[in-house]
Amino acid sequence: MAPPQHFRRSTTKTPQSALKPIANTRNTHTHITQKHNTLSILIQNIAQLLQTEEQTRTHIKGSDMQHLSSIKNAYLWIQHDRIADFGTMDDMPPLLPQIADTTLDAKNKLVLPTWCDSHTHIVYAGSRENEFVQRIQGATYEQIAEAGGGILNSAKRLQNTTAYDLYDSALYRLTEICRMGTGAVEIKSGYGLSLEAEIKMLRVIQQLKAASPLTIKATFLGAHALPTEYKNNREGYINLLINQMLPQIADEGLADFIDVFCEKGFFTADETAKILTAGAKYGLRAKIHANQLYYSGGVQVGVQQNALSVDHLECVGDAEIDCLLNTQTMPTLLPSAAFFLNLPYQPARRMIDAGLPIALATDYNPGSSPSGNMPFVISLACTQMKMLPNEAINAATLNGAYAMDVAPSLGSIARNKIANIQIINAPSVAYIPYSFGSQLTQTVILNGELI
Ligand code: NIG
Ligand code: FE
Repeated sequence: MAPPQHFRRSTTKTPQSALKPIANTRNTHTHITQKHNTLSILIQNIAQLLQTEEQTRTHIKGSDMQHLSSIKNAYLWIQHDRIADFGTMDDMPPLLPQIADTTLDAKNKLVLPTWCDSHTHIVYAGSRENEFVQRIQGATYEQIAEAGGGILNSAKRLQNTTAYDLYDSALYRLTEICRMGTGAVEIKSGYGLSLEAEIKMLRVIQQLKAASPLTIKATFLGAHALPTEYKNNREGYINLLINQMLPQIADEGLADFIDVFCEKGFFTADETAKILTAGAKYGLRAKIHANQLYYSGGVQVGVQQNALSVDHLECVGDAEIDCLLNTQTMPTLLPSAAFFLNLPYQPARRMIDAGLPIALATDYNPGSSPSGNMPFVISLACTQMKMLPNEAINAATLNGAYAMDVAPSLGSIARNKIANIQIINAPSVAYIPYSFGSQLTQTVILNGELI
């Protein structure tokens, strides 16, 4: 009888870290000499190896998004933390099964890169299901925000929560998303809204970077909402952000990117430009919240600032599409936020047909998307935005990697990229969005280590 495990480990020469909780594993980039990082893993008999690249690309756009390269009946060879080789079983060097520390059999399975979730807010305190119920009863997201709920509600809680508790709950969420196949994640500040609390959040993200095997990028989102005490002093808060928060964040190296919630009732396009210009002086590239509730001018200001991504985009017309064409800015769609707030979905089909690339992300946060489930986002992209399964997988892997500036090392199966791999129990690519809500990811490998 076949063993109950989904994959038979035919050889395991060294004690494995497979069952080690994520909380106890270290980021292997900084521990490359440790013995457990010297393992090799062979995955063989793979029904389909997806998102393979002989020549690496930075991102995929327009009609190219329909193509997802794949190798049938394939093997994948991982050494140290890198993808060393791959190809068809017929071409597999016969020596590999003999020298592999661990061999996995992926018969009838798909193997692909782990998801790159380029937009989240997973460091937060408490939850907001009371606002969820208020919305069921008719209140809007904006009305709740205007009444001091929403982001300000989360900020109040975060200010009264210790760094340790924030770290602990965020690490739990990282474990949760990893099980669903996410291997890289961007995390924003923005629930601090004071010098002390924004720094506290960003230091927590810094500690998560060191502790978690996921690749993490940090974004400074001090301009997420205007704190109550600055209600009549917008300039005062923006000055605090530019003159005090940014220098300290740069000094401690706490952020990779800068974000602004460019939206009616939050920050104007002019204020966004001012804040992003200040961030650029410290080398922080922009990734902004744009056009979620209104035509805010956020797309235009993002492109002017050469933002790495403009995110949300529920309100997008021809002017926004034209503005994004042939730029370095990745349009990033967050359909689970539209789902949860009952907003119109983003016009992904029009955008791709016009020649744009698309990245997909979860927006995991306590208000508009309390879920970090990338496979659900992929399903929504297909059912609600008419993206084809191949397009959605491209958007959740290589284009997501671009949107968090990790495409040179993640997002595809290419030699010498970091071995962030998932094994999925699905008979075809389309089965991934089709089988929504199922736990399809069976095995996750991050930095060449079984998780
Ligand atoms: O991306 N839109 C702005 N920020 C978050 C929501 C934050 C919240 O409601 O707590 C978002 O949807
Ligand atoms: Fe967001």
